[in-house]
Amino acid sequence: MEAPLAVCILAALLATGTCLQCEFCTGAGNNCTGSMQTCAAGQDSCAFIRTDVTMVGVKGQSFLKSCLPSSECKVGPISVNFGQVMTTRTSIVCCVGDACRTTTVPPANTTLNGRSCRGCYALNAGQCNEQTIACTGPETQCIDIAGTITSGGSQMQTVMKGCASESVCANIKVGSGTFAGSSVDLTTAKCTVASGAVGVAPGLVEILLPALAGLLLLKLLS
Ligand SMILES: *[C@@H]1O[C@H](CO)[C@@H](O)[C@H](O)[C@H]1NC(C)=O
Ligand SMILES: *[C@@H]1O[C@H](CO)[C@@H](O)[C@H](O)[C@H]1NC(C)=O
Repeated sequence: MEAPLAVCILAALLATGTCLQCEFCTGAGNNCTGSMQTCAAGQDSCAFIRTDVTMVGVKGQSFLKSCLPSSECKVGPISVNFGQVMTTRTSIVCCVGDACRTTTVPPANTTLNGRSCRGCYALNAGQCNEQTIACTGPETQCIDIAGTITSGGSQMQTVMKGCASESVCANIKVGSGTFAGSSVDLTTAKCTVASGAVGVAPGLVEILLPALAGLLLLKLLS
């Protein structure tokens, strides 16, 4: 406890002025309770994080409360949908002080959004049987990930395709990292805008406009 408090006092003296305390807990369901802990420097919000997972039709839910930098509060819903095999949807709501007493996290948005992607999920280099997946809520992108997951000494060749939210696509990249105790080495990691009745027009405009602007700039500068 001494180190975080010292860091916090230092942060308060230096500039940020605040010495935030947040509840820390993790558990199943849509709530949890735990003790208050002092946040490290730079962690200027308390976060409530709710994750809904379905695996082969079985639903699970978990809740986490902790400190978080406010910049990370703005990532938006984190949603990945590989169809029947697996979906995982996370919502983050941040609060400070008394507001945390009444803060609630809305359930994940599972309303179909009219877009679709080719999807499949294969572990251990199994055949990835693609089928069309209907995207939900904030899932405006089609994601395509392949690589190796090493967990507890065993290694799995993995291919995953499906719908994903912008927040996921903005953060995936080819390379290695560790996630929840597993080491992940991605050889493919890409996203494309999911097509759909409502999605095509804004999607294309979003992609084409910056591209055109870039080309124009290049012409002007050369
Ligand atoms: C979570 O649990 C706390 C403590 O039991 C309670 O005060 C709070 O209202 C609960 N929040 C929700 C959203 O159920
Ligand atoms: C859920 O997602 C749909 C489709 O993207 C959207 O139209 C709707 O506004 C969302 N609902 C909420 C409560 O955010």
